[in-house]
Parts: sequence; C-alpha cells; structure tokens
Amino acid sequence: MILVLDFGGQYNQLIARRVRENNVYCEVHTLTDEKISVDKNVKSGLGTAINFSAIKNLNPEGIILTGGPQSVYEKNSSLPPKEIFELNIPVLGICYGAQAMTKILGGEVKPAEVKEYGKTDAEIFESKIFKNVEKKTVVWMSHGDRIFSLPENFSVTAKSENCPIAAAENSQKNLFAIQFHPEVLHTVEGKKIFENFIEICGCKKDWKMDSFVEEKISELKNKIGGGKVLCALSGGVDSSVAAVLLSKAVGKNLTCVFVDHGLLRKNEAAEVEKIFSNYDLNFIKIDAGERFLKKLSGVTDPERKRKIIGEEFIRVFEEIAKKIGAVDFLVQGTIYPDVIESGLGKSAVIKSHHNVGGLPDFVDFKEIIEPLRLLFKDEVRQAGRELNLPENLVSRQPFPGPGLGIRIIGEITAEKIKIVQDADAIYREEIFNAGISKNLGQYFAALTNMRSVGVMGDGRTYDYAIVLRAVLTNDFMTADAAQIDWKILNKIANRIVNEVKGVNRVLYDCTSKPPATIEFE
Ligand code: XMP
Repeated sequence: MILVLDFGGQYNQLIARRVRENNVYCEVHTLTDEKISVDKNVKSGLGTAINFSAIKNLNPEGIILTGGPQSVYEKNSSLPPKEIFELNIPVLGICYGAQAMTKILGGEVKPAEVKEYGKTDAEIFESKIFKNVEKKTVVWMSHGDRIFSLPENFSVTAKSENCPIAAAENSQKNLFAIQFHPEVLHTVEGKKIFENFIEICGCKKDWKMDSFVEEKISELKNKIGGGKVLCALSGGVDSSVAAVLLSKAVGKNLTCVFVDHGLLRKNEAAEVEKIFSNYDLNFIKIDAGERFLKKLSGVTDPERKRKIIGEEFIRVFEEIAKKIGAVDFLVQGTIYPDVIESGLGKSAVIKSHHNVGGLPDFVDFKEIIEPLRLLFKDEVRQAGRELNLPENLVSRQPFPGPGLGIRIIGEITAEKIKIVQDADAIYREEIFNAGISKNLGQYFAALTNMRSVGVMGDGRTYDYAIVLRAVLTNDFMTADAAQIDWKILNKIANRIVNEVKGVNRVLYDCTSKPPATIEFE
C-alpha cells in the first residue's frame, strides 16, 4: 500500500485516486505528534490522524507528501518527521510536500519571485520517475514558494521558465521532489509519473473496487453488529450506493428515509419512490417542503442556506429515529469532493456541503457513518455496479443535497422553485432528446437573481433570466463547460421563454471549474 500524508491541498484525494487507478491500495492520513493507538488508524479508511510509529506499523511501500496552503518557513507549519526519509522506502513530495522534503533535508525554500498558477511548459531531464515522459511537456503549477537550493545528494530533474528547480531527486534513496501537480489531469504526463513511482515502490497491482465493496461490508457488519441504522436517502447515486452497502451489512435493521424538502427537480420525489419500491428495504418518504421553505424565508446568503438545509435534514432524521426507537447510527452518502470542499483538515472552505460543513454542531445520533467518504463520484458509480445497482441509477447525474436551494440565487420562494423546476425539466428533456446526456458530467438550469427587460408579443416584460450549465468532468473537482451545439441551445432557450412563466431570457455559463464551481452557490 501507499500512504498519502495530507497537508491540506485541494487536490490531495486526487493523488490517492491516481494510485488506486493503478490497482494499488492507498490511504490518506494527516500527521499528528500525539501518541495514538495504531489500530485505531490503520485501515480505518477515514483519513484519520497518524503519528510516526503508526506510519511504521502501517509498513507502506511508498509515501507521498501532498501539497498544501502553508509555507514551510512559517513558524507553525506542519512538517513530516525527518525519520520518514530514513525508512528506506521511496518518498514523493508534491508541491508543499516537495518543499517540506527539501527544507527538512537541508535545502532552502523561499517565496518565488514569480508565482506560477496554471498550465506551464516544463523541461524534463533524465530520471526514473520521469521514465517515458516527453522531454518538453505541460504541467500544472500552483505555488507561491519555490525551492532555491537543494539538500546534499539531490539533483535537478525538471525546470520551467520561472522555476529552475521544478523537480529534484536523490535517486539513490528514491526521494523525489516535484513542484508541479502530477495528480491534476492538466499535467499531461501526470499518470505516467504515478505509474513510475508505483513501479519504483515495487507495489503489487492487485487492489480492485470489489475489494473495497467486500471490505466495507464486513467493516460495517463489525461496527454496527445488531444495531439499528437510519440512512439518509436522496435517490442520488451516492446515498443509493451507501444504502445498498448498508442493507448488505445489516439487512432489515436499516431504514432509509427520503426527505422531500420541496427543492427537488420536477417529479423527482415520485421517481425516487418508484425506484426504491423495487428494493427490499424499509423506505419512508417525508414531505417537508413547507417546513424547509419557512426556515429559508428571507435568507439570501449561500452558506446560511446550506447550513439551514443541513440542519433541517438532521432534525427530520432525528425525529424519525425517535419514532423508530433505539437508532444509533445515521448513514450519509458523503463522498470525497463534499468533504474537501467543506474544508477538511487544513484545506480552505469552498462551500459547506449539506452533509459535512452544513451539519449542525449537535447531532443526536451515536455516530454518523459515511462509507463512501474517500471515494470520487466515478469510483462510487463503480462500487454501485459491483453491487448490481441498475445502470440508470448508477449513471444518474449528481444532484446536490440542498437541491434547487443552491440553484436559486438569492431568496428562495415557492414561485422561484416552480420557475427553475419547469425550466430545468425542459432543459433535461431536450438534452435527452438530442442524445447527448451521456456525454455530460452534469447539466441543469439555475435561476439568476437578475430581472431584465424583454419584449413579448407587443408588450414589455421585466422577468427573470435562467442560466443553463453543462459541464464535462470525471471527478467533479475540476470541470470544463460543455460546448453544446448552438441549435440545441437555441431550441431550449425558445422553449423556456415560451413555456415558463416569469422568464424572458436564457443565458449559458461558459466558465470552467476552477475558477467557477459547478453549482452557483
Ligand atoms: P461544486 O459546485 O462545488 O460541486 O463544483 C461539485 C459537485 O458536488 C455537488 N454538490 C453537492 N452535493 N451536497 C451534495 O450532496 C452538497 O451540499 C453539494 N454541493 C455541491 C455538485 O452538484 C457537483 O456535482
């Protein structure tokens, strides 16, 4: 296995994912000095903190030090213990990790004269970590500091215009420092760099997603025993996969609760109910539209909306749990992008996902279980297939827990919900009719907070603008705006302004993520 030590970079779980793509097991942990028991950490899969003795017991075949927002020369920056480099196993430091390796082993790191962000041309020199990598290639840079001088026995293995040490290594000890981000797909040769590192580590490539499913089910069985479990089911891929994993682990001790918060897509509540009536599960549907709308009345701030929705979900689940009686565990289909964007460890908060950062401080369950917490969306889909879930459910496009609440910019009202539901239904129908739905990672209509002047018939209108979004993405951490045929967009725009009362303008969002996000709030 490979151990990833997490220093808080936004792309850290992508590193784990690049390793797992090579069928090598990988865990992501943060570092701590505390004396904690090893068993508590190892194979927990929950990204817990780990100390040096736990690392030794874990016995990884390689260690990767991630990027992160700190500077190694700051007083309280977290640095890995020097002993990590004396374990006789390969270590790969990426960005902050490369700088930490340099600093600890005696090199120098300082603020860069020119900070580099984005795609950058790099020149690659001879090195086993760059085996079969083109000598001139494009890499993804994102750093404000850089390495100025190297530790003893290190040599430079890559450079860019503004970064004379874009990579360096001690090849005898298999210590590799890379300033750019090979885990991001914009680094054209990134996958090869991971393959090379894994080869250098000598890992057997025998880990598969079915091992994840089997291991998770037995882990859940051990943890829950005969306890009762409530699963927050939204009908989306993540919570459906979580529900089926749980039902395999605890059978009828599982109750799935589907909360209709009134912010679902058109006809969605009925569709979800139909899908799950085919499963051997305890399924409860709660109509809570009015309750959520009341709580959200007058609220415009996106983070407040998310927190209100997150809290209200939990309150509904607590009420149901009380009715059932003696329920200890709440299961959520949280996945890795939810965690990282809600601000994990030292990462910055991008938005509080309803099921992570949007959770209230007090939750009346013994424990929240999140079996998919370390997976990306496409890995969750893969797990769903291993569990024999139907393909139309597994390949459903994602729908966020706060639903249309974060697709209505500004205050949420019943009128606005109806507008965005109707516009979105037309958009989805036309995308499906055009036969391009499978090519798109996610597509939806949102309601802007903008009204503008139009002319319809012979009269003036002053109505809302709908914005259409469609993105191409695998992991939902980065995304490109899809280039949908103009004729298709034109037809959709025409239908929306003609069929949806209150809309006189349709816009198309051409921004990628980053710098935008997929959702609007
Ligand atoms: P963003 O907008 O952050 O979204 O680029 C990335 C992916 O996450 C989904 N998303 C959420 N999913 N709860 C969820 O279950 C949330 O609070 C939430 N916010 C965003 C979003 O739809 C996209 O697929």
